[in-house]
Amino acid sequence: MPGGKLTNAIDGIPAGPQALDVLRAGLNFLLVTLLFLCPGTDEHGLKIQTTAAAAGTLPQHFCDRVSVEFQELFTQSGVSYTDFIRTTEPRHRRAVEHFWATLQDRGWLYLANYEGWYCTAEECFLAASQVTERPDSQGCRHMVSLESGHQVHWTKEENYMFRLSEFQEPLLRWLQESRLTITPEPFYQLVVQWLKQDLPDLSVSRDRNRLQWGIPVPGDSIQTIYVWVDALVNYLTVVGYPDDHRNWWPAACHIVGKDILKFHAIYWPALLIAAGLDPPEQIFVHSHWTVQGQKMSKSLGNVIDPKACFQRYTVDGFRYFLLKQGVPEHDCDYYDEKVIKLLNSELAGVLGGLLNRCTAPSLNPSGTYPPFSEACFPRDAGTQNVSGLRKASAEDYRLVSSVKELPLQVSRYFERFQIYKALESIVDCARQTNGFIQRHKPWKLSREDPAQRQWQDTILHIALECLRVYGLLLQPVIPATADKLLSRLGVGPAERSLKNLTFLSRYHDEECPFEGRKLGPDTGLLFPRLEKPKARSHGGP
Ligand SMILES: *[C@@H]1O[C@H](CO)[C@@H](O)[C@H](O)[C@H]1NC(C)=O
Ligand SMILES: *[C@@H]1O[C@H](CO)[C@@H](O)[C@H](O)[C@H]1NC(C)=O
Repeated sequence: MPGGKLTNAIDGIPAGPQALDVLRAGLNFLLVTLLFLCPGTDEHGLKIQTTAAAAGTLPQHFCDRVSVEFQELFTQSGVSYTDFIRTTEPRHRRAVEHFWATLQDRGWLYLANYEGWYCTAEECFLAASQVTERPDSQGCRHMVSLESGHQVHWTKEENYMFRLSEFQEPLLRWLQESRLTITPEPFYQLVVQWLKQDLPDLSVSRDRNRLQWGIPVPGDSIQTIYVWVDALVNYLTVVGYPDDHRNWWPAACHIVGKDILKFHAIYWPALLIAAGLDPPEQIFVHSHWTVQGQKMSKSLGNVIDPKACFQRYTVDGFRYFLLKQGVPEHDCDYYDEKVIKLLNSELAGVLGGLLNRCTAPSLNPSGTYPPFSEACFPRDAGTQNVSGLRKASAEDYRLVSSVKELPLQVSRYFERFQIYKALESIVDCARQTNGFIQRHKPWKLSREDPAQRQWQDTILHIALECLRVYGLLLQPVIPATADKLLSRLGVGPAERSLKNLTFLSRYHDEECPFEGRKLGPDTGLLFPRLEKPKARSHGGP
């Protein structure tokens, strides 16, 4: 199942505390083919230069510290990756210099006097229509960016310009080839709209006097390469550009936040085409987390620290919450009660409850994977009930067919990065399985009566098979919990691959390797219920 590639792609971790969000590229994953996952930190630019100066430290030291924080966060959250790219690495500088020289050789760059409103926070020039005058808290009037509200300054300097205006048509053609180039769909539409508006040339360097923290323009050391041109090339650096990137490029999927869509969906593909390379195959865009309806910000003091959440909800619990509630199309709202409610209901309740029922010593005294009986649950729902042993109802057949279809459905959702839908279909099946048990009340059947015992065993066999499939499918999302579940079912490490998703083979007249096998040891609740948070003081009345 190609969905396996997502084993490590957890995204949507809220921007971390303090300085973490300064390095905006922390969540820009690069997913090249099925096997290459690369997050990284984008470390150059005026914003870093200013922030480091304000902290009384050198930009390099500042970046070293923050980049490590990101890497630690990945390790802590159980996200592994193929490579981690820092834009201050020598291999990256080489790639950027080569990329720049290629653009220059092909005639896409020229020097020009440039003036306009510059927004340091966004690291870009803004058009007159993108700025407005607004008073600050002291009543002083400033020009600010309409989109971000950050202050802008009138800036005049000689810069290298990239002939972006010539790429309107090529970019529209690229997007028309496939609607799946930019997903989800609303973001595709947004980019098409942008492209139908004016597309001026792009300033791609800064005066060295103003910006020292960056890669100098090759052959012109009084200019520094624009941080976005520098940063975007990271996707090529990690696949070996300029020497052997052709093994990977352009089989790439960029996973980006909606705030940096323009850079990835307009500037980057144009730069690539200009340099004689193919644009990325896919750009997957995600929205942001708000906190109780507000934007997360340091000044509001409402930033959610993922490390604290791992402590409070466990790593698996928090991963599950983010991936189940994180819908890429629109912003999602975070609050503690919501996490607790979701985890208690789905992990502790639906999944943990189901496991408890199927392994309870009162129902399963031998602690084994009990045998399945074809007489109780014949394959053909239409055959006559000759034996009188037949128990399965139409709803039961529907359950079996839902769970059989589940892996394919989940893999389709995973391929489209719709993890929340994949999880919803797993939970939905688990709810149906609980309903199946509830319907047949196996605890009311007597083990003394052979026919009843046969049916009781069959009910448990089916429920355990369902749980095994859910456990296998949940491994990428909640690895520790899935491991606990599968271990409890006695499923060995070599039986947990996507090839082992065959469901209820006895029903299909095949051997079931688990039938009659001893269950694994009882290691406690699958996911302990979380307590409601204690009322926290907010410092106000
Ligand atoms: C099959 O027959 C037995 C005995 O007559 C009956 O108890 C049982 O409900 C029947 N099963 C179904 C699914 O109709
Ligand atoms: C699990 O998959 C492996 C690898 O494909 C296979 O060798 C093994 O027989 C499978 N085991 C079960 C129980 O399905």
